[in-house]
Amino acid sequence: MLSKNQEAKYRKLIAAAKKASDLAYRPYSNYPVGAAVLTFDGKIYTGCNIENYGFTQTIHAEQTAMAKALSEGGLKRALDAGLTQLDFIEAIAVHAPKGTDPWPCCNCRQSLNEFGLSMKVVGEGKNGSIKCKTLGELIPHAFPMEVVLAAVHGKNWKEQMRRNAGSHSQKKDVKQKRAAERVAPDKRMQLIEAAKQAAELAYCPYSHYPVGAAVLTFDGKIYSGCNIENCGYTQTIHAEQTAMAKAVSEGALQRAFDKGLTQFDFIKSIAVYSPKLTEPWPSCNGRQSLNEFGLSMDVIGLNSKGQIVSKKLKELIPFAFPMESVLKSVREPNNRKARLQQEAKRLP
Ligand code: THU
Ligand code: ZN
Repeated sequence: MLSKNQEAKYRKLIAAAKKASDLAYRPYSNYPVGAAVLTFDGKIYTGCNIENYGFTQTIHAEQTAMAKALSEGGLKRALDAGLTQLDFIEAIAVHAPKGTDPWPCCNCRQSLNEFGLSMKVVGEGKNGSIKCKTLGELIPHAFPMEVVLAAVHGKNWKEQMRRNAGSHSQKKDVKQKRAAERVAPDKRMQLIEAAKQAAELAYCPYSHYPVGAAVLTFDGKIYSGCNIENCGYTQTIHAEQTAMAKAVSEGALQRAFDKGLTQFDFIKSIAVYSPKLTEPWPSCNGRQSLNEFGLSMDVIGLNSKGQIVSKKLKELIPFAFPMESVLKSVREPNNRKARLQQEAKRLP
């Protein structure tokens, strides 16, 4: 049973998830989902699903919300307060207008598992009552993250990680923020600075390879993100995906549509930064995620000499898998008989 306090808190969280589902980008499934994360310090971060015509690069609503919470500094605040990553998220609400129960898919359960099995998963049941379970209840016999983390960091991995995070992200912040303000005249440098700052928040305990990205939208707004690793590895979210997911779930794509623009005009450029990179070109997975929003965007960053380098996404994906044909096929009738007839005609 929930207390009155909890009930009020979760209703607010569920309402945020509901609102976020309106912003879902779901041209293939037409199945909108919204999610809202409540952090340890009472802040709410929302997210929606963002599909991709390559399907496997689709980002789920829960991942968007979690990525936003982390890349906006939620985890860093928890570590600074002496907590661990396992206390960073208090609860997550999930809402799918076409669904029934609020329980996330297994892939999302694994994404969330990185931040502790004690978080609450909440949502509205059919009759308007609140459903609530701990993540642990949704993942019986969970794959043990502590074992994977201890293999990298040793037995006192919690303490070790807190120390790493501290040395990696503290102190420099203020100075960097001021630098970013100073370089405002050059929007490109400002974008790269935003990516640099985002890299400071990266959650990368397995690779120790922080990456930051920052998206510049058609209306001059900047959304930044970092990589967020996962003990299952394949659920890792790349910095480019975090930044793009933030832009979509904060309504930038909707704003472009409202202005009569298409999804291909929504992102002007994206900056990528890693202290360990000598060239800023994203992985193929990152490129494919961005491709959903047009090949004409600029990908920018610094080379090893500190100079700005830039390429069109088109140059980074020559002979791209054609999204138009996938989008077109959704609208075509899936008529088996007609297809068989057509195929028969093609036979010698
Ligand atoms: N989806 C989510 O956003 N979260 C889940 O946990 C279940 C599935 C999205 C992905 C896809 O865009 C659509 O719902 C249909 O699978
Ligand atoms: Zn999911």
